[in-house]
Amino acid sequence: MKVTVVGAGAVGASCAEYIAIKNFASEVVLLDIKEGFAEGKAMDLMQTASLNGFDTKITGTTNDYSKTANSDICVITSGIPRKPGMTREELIGINAGIVKTVSSSLIEHSPDTIMIVVSNPMDTMTYLVHQTTDLPKNRIIGMGGALDSARFKYRLAEALDAPISDVDGMVLGGHSDTGMVPLTRLATRNSVPVSEFISEERLQQVMEDTKVGGATLTKLLGTSAWYAPGAAVSSLVQAIACDQKKMFPCSTLLEGEYGLNDICIGVPVLLGRNGIEKIVEIELSNSENEHMQKSAEGVRATNGLLQQ
Ligand code: 2OP
Repeated sequence: MKVTVVGAGAVGASCAEYIAIKNFASEVVLLDIKEGFAEGKAMDLMQTASLNGFDTKITGTTNDYSKTANSDICVITSGIPRKPGMTREELIGINAGIVKTVSSSLIEHSPDTIMIVVSNPMDTMTYLVHQTTDLPKNRIIGMGGALDSARFKYRLAEALDAPISDVDGMVLGGHSDTGMVPLTRLATRNSVPVSEFISEERLQQVMEDTKVGGATLTKLLGTSAWYAPGAAVSSLVQAIACDQKKMFPCSTLLEGEYGLNDICIGVPVLLGRNGIEKIVEIELSNSENEHMQKSAEGVRATNGLLQQ
């Protein structure tokens, strides 16, 4: 299993690190445009192999896409991250050009790959990869929902004063401060609805904290987060590599599901060796559905900027 990660910045390096530590891939190629940067990160990570006990071979390359040839999975993290006070949508001008170039270069050398898109605004960048490549829809996956759901679980555990392994929950919709749809109604602690333990008001707070999860970190760090995004990517890559048929909310091209068409947005999917093997349609309440449709309007507005 060969995995390429484009962008050796904090998010890309974190993806490579978590993928390697989980020890299921034979090879990870890190690629960056900055001379020597990916090579340096790869060497540094390889020097943790004997300490962390992994056998994955990590190599780095400065923009040489021939080194990525025949990758089973390619992860696109390249582009600029947001600064405090910026929305993900504001990054579109620069990141659209980068994602277009990167995805077509990757496809030249790995025509049958599965692409995972991390660059922001993520749902629109996933849609752009559809426009740029001829990959079938099951091979283009936007990473946002897995990260947002991890942040949701963190906030739920905090509110419940419970260990994170006790809680479960999912976030659908667009990967944006206003677009996320945390499914509080379906969140549980050991299969008991969380509403049994905390007030509606506290649950609303959990929802709001989840939606601004990325912005909160950007304010604290001065740039966007990397550990949780890297860990979320590694979980998606592992589900594909190990054919787990595991359910994650991911951004995928919808053709009628959830009443939406011609848009990439976060919905539950099953991930296995063929990428997105199934889109899972769950029944949403009226208000969840309203949020979902509103979220889609936001994503469409950002998609509209691609034409300009
Ligand atoms: C985040 O929410 C990078 O969009 C990513 O942290």
